[in-house]
Amino acid sequence: MENKFKRTLVTCALPYANGPVHIGHLAGVYVPADIYVRYLRMRGREVLYVCGSDEHGVPITIKARQQGCTPQDIVDRYHGIIKDSFEGLGIHFDIYGRTSSEVHAKNASGFFRKLYEDGKFITKESEQYYDPEAKTFLADRYIVGTCPKCGNEGAYGDQCEKCGSTLSPEELINPHSKLSGATPVKKKTTHWYLPLQDYEQWLREWILEGHQEWRSNVYGQVKSWLDGGLQPRAVTRDLDWGVPVPVEGAEGKVLYVWFDAPIGYISNTQELLPDSWEKWWKSPDTRLVHFIGKDNIVFHCIVFPAMLKAYGDGYILPDNVPANEFLNLEGDKISTSRGWAVWAHEYLKDFPGKEDVLRYVLTANAPETKDNDFSWKDFQQRNNSELVAIFGNFVNRAMVLTHKYFGGKVPACGALEDIDKEALAQIPVLKASMEKNIEEFKFREALKDAMGIARVGNKYISDSEPWKVAKTDLDRTGTILNISLQICADLAIAFEPFTPFAAKRLRDMLGSGLDWEVLGRPQILPAGHQLGAAELLFAKIEDDAIDAQLARLDRIRAEREAAAKAEAAKLVAPQKAECTFDEFEKMDIRTATVLEAERVPKTDKLLKLTIDTGIDRRVIVSGIAEYYTPEAMVGKQICILANLQPRTIRGIESHGMILMAKQGDGSMRFITPQEAVSNGAIVG
Ligand code: MF3
Ligand code: ZN
Repeated sequence: MENKFKRTLVTCALPYANGPVHIGHLAGVYVPADIYVRYLRMRGREVLYVCGSDEHGVPITIKARQQGCTPQDIVDRYHGIIKDSFEGLGIHFDIYGRTSSEVHAKNASGFFRKLYEDGKFITKESEQYYDPEAKTFLADRYIVGTCPKCGNEGAYGDQCEKCGSTLSPEELINPHSKLSGATPVKKKTTHWYLPLQDYEQWLREWILEGHQEWRSNVYGQVKSWLDGGLQPRAVTRDLDWGVPVPVEGAEGKVLYVWFDAPIGYISNTQELLPDSWEKWWKSPDTRLVHFIGKDNIVFHCIVFPAMLKAYGDGYILPDNVPANEFLNLEGDKISTSRGWAVWAHEYLKDFPGKEDVLRYVLTANAPETKDNDFSWKDFQQRNNSELVAIFGNFVNRAMVLTHKYFGGKVPACGALEDIDKEALAQIPVLKASMEKNIEEFKFREALKDAMGIARVGNKYISDSEPWKVAKTDLDRTGTILNISLQICADLAIAFEPFTPFAAKRLRDMLGSGLDWEVLGRPQILPAGHQLGAAELLFAKIEDDAIDAQLARLDRIRAEREAAAKAEAAKLVAPQKAECTFDEFEKMDIRTATVLEAERVPKTDKLLKLTIDTGIDRRVIVSGIAEYYTPEAMVGKQICILANLQPRTIRGIESHGMILMAKQGDGSMRFITPQEAVSNGAIVG
């Protein structure tokens, strides 16, 4: 542990209050931060744990517009849901504030004002899109049009969500305003910019030279930003939702959300500790650690530090920024807008009492060094074969046997045999490894260490078979159970950061304490100590619970695919080159009726149709088997191109072609007269 610091300020990225939090957020930021904070607290460190909702930004205003309510309504709703989800998962911040608070408006405004007065900004005039009907500037997200890459008509001015391309409004075909539908025009506007390039050298020294211990994904991203050259970054926007720019002549402008949000960490600290917040932000004795996801790296490692540096006044900088990569869900990118997620508040409803299981799985599978996948089968498997079968099973055997043979009192420990010594010797080793791993933000490894203690216990009790020994030697049985119970008490400490609910239940059962220092020491539970009743720590998760989750995801996938298909079906092919009337006249198009239909053997697509054309009875081979069964075709009136040159298809001579309407997604329907007509009627 870094000894030069007296206290640690841990911040978690402020989640946007435009949707609930999902497992990706939890795995990336909040579960690891919580492990870290719980660990530091157990070790007696002074810690402040700060988070809150990020309540500004364009997506919130768009959502409000879609739902016909105010942005404040949106953030009020999600702030509540998010806050409750964290609480429900045992993630207890010292403060969970919000950037729409008054404290924050004042603080963020003051922060801007000082930088402004100190001449830290430059201003630039630029041309921005403007809605001439709604009389307002348009954020890129408020401009929609056709994607030049994939033809999606609903692409945004910053991104096409269909093909994933990053776009600029200029690239959109037929751009129009989401507000009024008007075609946006360019209009001049002035904004304030932080000249990041002025901080480049300083950032290089501070991070590239001074923090080579940072995670390689973080360090690498910072380096590539710096190597790419920094540009002035706009810190204001033309928008009506946010902290107003506190400068004359800035009407209709607000602070850019990424300028105000990180200041929210400071505001929330002020709200909690109006008189002593400065010791957390302005003392070199304080170690600042930001927990974030990888998409936030540039803001926390470059922009916010440059803001703090520009401000001066003793603000500290992060000592580490352990950013995680992303978590996928069942092999697909998690997406709030596409509904592809497992939401924390829904998990808590669907799996009551299983808060720890989610924490455990998200840690065991944490995307610390690369993107990882969450799958429900893995979730079930880790619960059933790790938490239940190893940790829970071990504790249960130790507890039940102690009740059975010793009335629930910790039996005395006799002379130690080799098997006892070997088991006990592993605990301090695992403890030391866990400490090192947590301090280096390697929570997956740390969890393996904690689980290692459970494995040691489980193996020890299995190998030493106290239930057999009890038949002949009750003293030896007592020693085995004594040692097993000490390991249980170790587990009640070691698992506190990871599965705090189970750890607490275990401590209650054992009547043991939560002091990191005693972990691994002999005789934590003295002989004669009375235990509580044995309770199961974890319960098996059955297939039906998992199947229900998979079915929900299948439904979302199916809806998404159906929507994508419906979109694709709407795509219209461009008009073909002109033809003359004479050319058209050459085609003999007729009505006809299908008399017989059968599949062409060994093909998926072809039907052999025998039809009455009015002129004759003939065979046409048609590629419609994907859309119609033979039975569905018999008796149907259709249109054919009668004088198409005969062709042999799969050994069958085909005389003509069935006319089909082919949609944008490639699907086809045959053309039929609105009302029955005689066969052989000329179409034209
Ligand atoms: N709301 C942002 C996100 O979810 C994170 C903001 S972190 C802060 O990506 F530092 F700006 F607060
Ligand atoms: Zn596209």
